[in-house]
Amino acid sequence: CGIVGYVGSRRVVPVLLEGLKRLEYRGYDSAGLVYLGKNGLVKHRAQGKLLNLEAKLDQVRQTPSHIGLGHTRWATHGSPSELNAHPHSDCHGELVVVHNGIIENFRTLREELQAEGHVFRSETDTEVLAHLIESFLCGSRCDLVGAVRRALKKVKGSYAIGVLWTGEPDKLVAVRSQSPLVLGVQENDERGCLLASDIPALLPYTNRVVYLEDQDLAVIRADGFEVRKLSNGRKVKRPIHTIDWNPAMAEKSGYTHFMLKEIFEQPQAILNTFRSRIDPEHGQLCLPELGLSDRDIKGIGRIVLLACGSSWHAALVAKYWLEQWVGIPVEVDIASEFRYRRLLLDKNVLVIPITQSGETADTLAGTRLALKSGAKVVAICNVLGSTITREVHGTLYTHAGPEIGVASTKAFTCQLVALFLLTLYLAQVRGTMASRERLTMIESLVELPVVLERELPGWQEEMERLAEEFVKSRDFLFLARGENFPIALEGALKLKEISYIHAEGYAAGEMKHGPIALIDRDMPVLALVPQNGVYDKVVANVEEVKARHGRLILLGSRGDANIGRIADHVVYLPVILPDLNPILYTVPLQLLAYQVARLRGCDVDQPRNLAKSVTVE
Ligand code: G6P
Repeated sequence: CGIVGYVGSRRVVPVLLEGLKRLEYRGYDSAGLVYLGKNGLVKHRAQGKLLNLEAKLDQVRQTPSHIGLGHTRWATHGSPSELNAHPHSDCHGELVVVHNGIIENFRTLREELQAEGHVFRSETDTEVLAHLIESFLCGSRCDLVGAVRRALKKVKGSYAIGVLWTGEPDKLVAVRSQSPLVLGVQENDERGCLLASDIPALLPYTNRVVYLEDQDLAVIRADGFEVRKLSNGRKVKRPIHTIDWNPAMAEKSGYTHFMLKEIFEQPQAILNTFRSRIDPEHGQLCLPELGLSDRDIKGIGRIVLLACGSSWHAALVAKYWLEQWVGIPVEVDIASEFRYRRLLLDKNVLVIPITQSGETADTLAGTRLALKSGAKVVAICNVLGSTITREVHGTLYTHAGPEIGVASTKAFTCQLVALFLLTLYLAQVRGTMASRERLTMIESLVELPVVLERELPGWQEEMERLAEEFVKSRDFLFLARGENFPIALEGALKLKEISYIHAEGYAAGEMKHGPIALIDRDMPVLALVPQNGVYDKVVANVEEVKARHGRLILLGSRGDANIGRIADHVVYLPVILPDLNPILYTVPLQLLAYQVARLRGCDVDQPRNLAKSVTVE
């Protein structure tokens, strides 16, 4: 879910709507907002996309209110109906709450409150918060901050909340507990403060940002903010950071979808991710942000990579690189699995959580377990100041810029670049790679954005043609081997998440142990066959598909005449350093998924049931 709040000199409704648009990637089952009008709080809510809410707001856009809250929802408790949409109110409609996260003990709290006479209107866990805060405001002479603090003492779970109460009409109270929340502070002739789940919502108004810490309570007013510790109410200082993201970064800039824009931004994003970290002339890397001394690096006995979704696929590729070039055993774990088994970690294990957002609940929980075990923990993350980056020993940032499309594209390829840099750096420190070899690798990496920039327009056309042919397919199989196998998984994930075509990624050599039973004249099979050490093996596997009349699409090396003989369709990619093929081959697969989804009329940027940042377990 995404929350946004504003108090300041502007009219509040357009500010909230603009913020919600930029947070919609966090959930789009329903949306709502509330502002303080002349006669009290005015709430508007709608099921479905933000557009439905916008349609209801025509008459109130210019309403002269200057304080309010907004919410875009990804349902956890209660179906995505208008009734369950936020904001939620107390009994008297004088207090409203927006919330991102989960209240674990909401059933018990709800029963207690109902016994006291509170009447509930929704099925959500959030409504409990409104009634609970109300009970402390009515029962004593608490101010809003006091009531929020006392209420939250009874609450178990994770939450970021925003609260507005008519009794103190000049302020919003916000609390962060294990769910992301940032403040935006306007300056110069603009008076105003914002709160939001993520930075893009703030960008049209300010790039001065305050990262709240866990268990912080903030009071924001038009003329400033203060932060207190939730536990004891004591004031604490939180610095204002000026960030170099600009509003255009969170706009489509002429592209039909964010996803397409983000695919085309990859050459720049990749360049940004490696450029300040390498010295191409001397073939050296410098990564002080890892927070690891040479001694630490030499002492690493095992590496554990931890992630969800596409980030997990990036981890799978990195296993091949790290084991090949650094010679350290690597384990890769899905974060939600890592959490519930015996972990054999110690101080000689390097744990690397990989997360675009830095907020994925399972990855965060796994990271906390690793920290407790005494292991060294270095995150790979795209969002400055996100929760994970404030808990780990070091962060290697990807500099992909904000990614809005729910299906990850540039953030994924930049994760691969960061992991490649990490591999080269560990190899440099441990002396496991000859410096001439490292230099060649760095030169190839530097060349990669140039290659991508050159190839992208051609791929777009080719993939559009392929998409036309396969738009009606019901299933798809993606095959590859070695370091490209995880890219088969990623290609399948991209296609299924945005086009709703069932797709599976498989290790090509494993196909004969199951999926081969599915192959017939209707089954498209896409295989990655760059000329590398396992080329002959993959070709043998695709011959097995051909023998069973599957419809073969091959992505392989330019100049390879052999694959044209076997396949129905061939897409030729330039020949680069084989290690970097996982990055190169990802991009046409993104475009294929995009074109198929577009032709099928799917909502590319906001596929059904998904959310970009999953802050629940
Ligand atoms: C969600 C997104 C995926 C993403 C995954 C992990 O499922 O839809 O695109 O890969 O979360 O997100 P993270 O921010 O941890 O990389």
